[in-house]
Amino acid sequence: MSSETAIKPYDRHVFVCTGPRCAPDESEGVYKALKMRLEELGLYRKPELGPVKRSQCHCFGICEKGPLVVVYPEGVWYEQVSLEKLERIIQEHLIQGQPVSDYCFHAMNGKAE
Ligand code: FES
Repeated sequence: MSSETAIKPYDRHVFVCTGPRCAPDESEGVYKALKMRLEELGLYRKPELGPVKRSQCHCFGICEKGPLVVVYPEGVWYEQVSLEKLERIIQEHLIQGQPVSDYCFHAMNGKAE
């Protein structure tokens, strides 16, 4: 790889759809809460430095049952993510490495295990 843009290694990348057809008010709250909790837990310092990166996107092309959250590298898709669900995703998926199958509606490899 030859680039002057340096990104330190990270373990997971969490995307939150904050698009207009995807529960935008709730999605913004989930996106902000994700940052706050990652900071509190020491999992997020700056997007380019922390072991968990966080990004918002405008649309995943699903546009229903938002807030939608996708976690990579597993490619696990979560729907209707409330703040309570987000906390469980953080604890079980991001920290323990076990996707929360109760909230998952799709996974890149066909299963959320
Ligand atoms: S607006 Fe969220 S998936 Fe399209």
